[in-house]
Amino acid sequence: MLSQLLLLFTAVLLCCGNCAFATTVDWWESATLYQIYPRSFMDSDGDGVGDLNGITSRLEYLKEIGVTATWLSPIFESPMADMGYDVSNFTNIDPLFGTMEDFDVMIAKAHKLGLKIILDFVPNHSSDECEWFQKSIRREDGYDDFYMWEDGKIDSQTGERVPPSNWVSVFSGSMWTWNEQRQQYYLHQFLAKQPDLNFSNPMVREYMQAVLQFWVDRGVDGFRIDAVPHIGEKQYANGTYPDEPRSGWSDDPNSYNYHDHIYTKDQPLTLEVVYEWRKFFDEYKNQNGGDTIALIAEAYSSVDVLSDYINNGTHAGTQIPMNFNLMSLDSHSTARNVEQLTKVWMDTIWERHHSANWVLGNHDNDRLATRMSQRKVYLMTMLVHALPGTSVTYYGEEIGMSNVDTECTEVSCEDRDPERTPMQWTNSAHAGFTTGPTTWLPVSSDYEVINVATERGVARSTLQIFKGMTKLKQTPAFKAFKDDNGFSFGAVSEQVFQVVRTAVKREEYRILINMGNSIEYLYGLANQTMEYVLLSPYSPHSYGEKVDLSQRIYLMPFEAVVLYSSAESS
Ligand code: NOJ
Ligand code: MG
Repeated sequence: MLSQLLLLFTAVLLCCGNCAFATTVDWWESATLYQIYPRSFMDSDGDGVGDLNGITSRLEYLKEIGVTATWLSPIFESPMADMGYDVSNFTNIDPLFGTMEDFDVMIAKAHKLGLKIILDFVPNHSSDECEWFQKSIRREDGYDDFYMWEDGKIDSQTGERVPPSNWVSVFSGSMWTWNEQRQQYYLHQFLAKQPDLNFSNPMVREYMQAVLQFWVDRGVDGFRIDAVPHIGEKQYANGTYPDEPRSGWSDDPNSYNYHDHIYTKDQPLTLEVVYEWRKFFDEYKNQNGGDTIALIAEAYSSVDVLSDYINNGTHAGTQIPMNFNLMSLDSHSTARNVEQLTKVWMDTIWERHHSANWVLGNHDNDRLATRMSQRKVYLMTMLVHALPGTSVTYYGEEIGMSNVDTECTEVSCEDRDPERTPMQWTNSAHAGFTTGPTTWLPVSSDYEVINVATERGVARSTLQIFKGMTKLKQTPAFKAFKDDNGFSFGAVSEQVFQVVRTAVKREEYRILINMGNSIEYLYGLANQTMEYVLLSPYSPHSYGEKVDLSQRIYLMPFEAVVLYSSAESS
């Protein structure tokens, strides 16, 4: 027995570094994730708003471009004060998007195609129109403490009632709103129409777990968890709430930046809840089998905090805390800037958890083309798919969509509308998004050039680059990255970023990205000859052409290439 154990131990030791099991990655670890904003993806019924049947009709497209899992922004019943992030019923589909049958059809087709569906889970708050909140206002049995209620304080100077603390909501103004009926303040980290649920109440935790159970039983493959850092708030044992200190970042007392959020962000309670969800899904998998349920956290927090959301050494949490670092790049950013940002992640999260993900955009931020310029979209597309780990693409970024100047309408009037406009499918009316007469937000005026159908037919379009990279992401060289030998990357000059991906020393891909607008010369990059296998616009090279990396090589302005060699070919 002892000798058998010793043998096994030796085998494991010898294997480290290049055995198959040492490099195997779970599906989510190297997934190509794609965010769909359902209102704007595809309209099937002509009302100018995207819907589930629209998504179902475009699942083949997701397959075509190499997506492995798609995350849908909220599709649940909602008064749409925050476009679905104000949920009034967590287990119902909003009629605007379709029915539960439509949902089932969508998920069945997705699975048939080998695509995974990830839903947006919005636990921090509900809509004020949610039945739970209405019951809580009326202090109905069990619902009294379902939300965060407080009497407030009496100002000793004026004798007037004031909120319990100085907390400012993410969307500005007090985090507390007075409710006439209940004669108390309630807390909302976001809009007043989004009251925060009270996660120190076990019944709330039970209800939210039941929501997760409901969707996972319907076949959902994972959840993007909304606003994770905001779940818990600090409350003293006597029921009072501490004021937050000034941050020094803003002079406007109504701005979220006015305070340092030491009592309303990333609280211990939040971690506890996140670990509970992970445990729930691990047990679920143990009982029911199937693939790992992926939990993706939306958290604009420091890498140290994100690290704890993954695992604090005792408990496991969300596998993918979204890495928004690359979203701070702008049109002037260089390869060195990219290197600094990637390093922040690799030195902490990779070091501790061997996990990486790269997000380029979402429905809350300007589009990539607007932030970094149109011609840099394919450079960033190459970057996030070349790097080890999970890539996250916001719908439309794969064709290079830009922000659109939108005007206030009755349907929507907010500063995030410009990045939420309809997907550009074709160069016909409304970019093929709807057959109806109008669209809920205007279609971009560039749709006749920037659209899926046109880019399919152009050899080096942003879409073709995207497809080329997602295909590479499926190869062993891109999947084998857990042992640290499978990749290396960094800036090789001020403007050129290089990523090297290797599969057990036999195959190598080298991605070179020139972020700058001048020709770049590189000397003696490696002692080998490689072949051009993917070329960007502005590349004067041709497919199959060889390049000797021991010599001087050059990249044209904004040129990006993928080079390849195998043990056989060199
Ligand atoms: C983050 C979501 O992405 C955003 O759109 C929403 O407004 C807030 N969370 C509140 O749910
Ligand atoms: Mg909260």
